[in-house]
Amino acid sequence: MKILVLNASPKGKNSTTVHTALYLQALHPEHTFTVVPVGQQIKRYEKDFAPLRAQLEEAELVLFCYPVYTFIAPYQLHRLIELIKADGVDLSGKFASQITTSKHFYDVTAHRYVEENCFDLGMKVVRGLSADMDDLLTEEGRREARNFFDQLMFSCAHGLFVTPPAPAPRREKEIYQPVLPDVAKTKDKDVVIVTNCAPEDQNLHNMIADFQAALPFESRVVNLRDFPFAGGCLGCFGCAVTGKCVYQDGFDQFLRNTIQTADAFVYAFTIADHYTHSSFKCFDDRQFCNGHRTVTHGTPIAYLISGDYRYESNLRMIVEGRSEVGGNYLCGVATDEGDTAADIQALADSLVFALKKKLSRPANFYGVGGMKIFRDLIYVMQGLMKADHRFYKAHGIYDFPQKQKKRILQMKLVGALVAIPSVQKKMKGQMNQYIIGPYQKVVEQAGEKRKASGQ
Ligand SMILES: Cc1cc2nc3c(=O)[nH]c(=O)nc-3n(C[C@H](O)[C@H](O)[C@H](O)COP(=O)(O)O)c2cc1C
Repeated sequence: MKILVLNASPKGKNSTTVHTALYLQALHPEHTFTVVPVGQQIKRYEKDFAPLRAQLEEAELVLFCYPVYTFIAPYQLHRLIELIKADGVDLSGKFASQITTSKHFYDVTAHRYVEENCFDLGMKVVRGLSADMDDLLTEEGRREARNFFDQLMFSCAHGLFVTPPAPAPRREKEIYQPVLPDVAKTKDKDVVIVTNCAPEDQNLHNMIADFQAALPFESRVVNLRDFPFAGGCLGCFGCAVTGKCVYQDGFDQFLRNTIQTADAFVYAFTIADHYTHSSFKCFDDRQFCNGHRTVTHGTPIAYLISGDYRYESNLRMIVEGRSEVGGNYLCGVATDEGDTAADIQALADSLVFALKKKLSRPANFYGVGGMKIFRDLIYVMQGLMKADHRFYKAHGIYDFPQKQKKRILQMKLVGALVAIPSVQKKMKGQMNQYIIGPYQKVVEQAGEKRKASGQ
């Protein structure tokens, strides 16, 4: 089979991920592998897409190889997908699959993003391989890579493809006109609206205008398309020790002094290619200069999204997952799918309420699971990721279960007691009663407190 490996890591031939493809190439001389460093050469393809078009046309199987970057793919792959779609090269009927390496932090959303775009292109999608960064260095990892390739060939031969999600029904896009009255503003809070709004994003532009009108605080708009990014994150880890990016375009100072200082963040974008225009992904990836530190923990977040958000389940997971992991209270998402004005008004009210009440909520699976991956990663990498390690120590993020010595001892004692037959007999059916005791006390005390306060 003619396999085109799109190596979308910005590290080119020094990519970890592409080595899994090279390993498979070494084992399978019966197939033709063409490996292209698309991530490193993205600027070249922006100027001239023709060489890649020819390679895409030639391929029978397109294998996307990339590192997971901030819940999705690197900016460079987002840009490539834009270029492929803009060129209009016909990939329908071709096989598509993917290999990623990562620490498994939101590898699921990355894979879903690539799958969704391959479906858009009419490709036959085979489930990809999500490997840990170090997997190729272990025998088990290599076996899994070999298995992946065998399954891939089997799936192509037997038509075992990923089921595409139901697409959004076609709808006539109405131009949303701002209607909300401009309320009086105070300078009590600083709200920053980060957007990649382009001149053609009329709805988004008007949604931002309405949101600003409805908000009783003055707000600032930062348009990412105006920032002179020198390029996407290079994955060089130069920032791991110093927190400073190797690029000289001033993004890290801009991020820290213009955006992160705000009391609330509003992200505003139009959906494109199941995320948004790649300019936003460039912004996401370049925030790696903050490492894995949840530096804006507690700052509320709101979203203004133009597009068929309700049909983008993967994007919804990304939006929720990001605020969960960051410890940011998600006030809500206003879209232009229904009653846009009511949505925007409710979002503005919700943001004011969150700021006033300093709202927070317990992290759910997305947040707890994500932070556990980071905790274990930074603990092991503490020698290199010094700033992250200091932050995790200072903020009590190293909550390893084995440190709960008292609780473990308590449980051992309970375990030993309930193992005694006479105790077992006495406690029969009463276990839950013992457990619920302290909870009942909380409820009783709340009632007593309320009565005492005369409410
Ligand atoms: C900007 C940036 C963002 C990253 N985001 C994630 C992530 O969301 N999830 C994850 O598990 N790993 C993440 N990583 C780690 C990379 O996925 C991992 O190091 C990968 O193996 C690098 O592959 P490569 O050498 O092919 O570029 C990130 C790394 C960088 C530099």
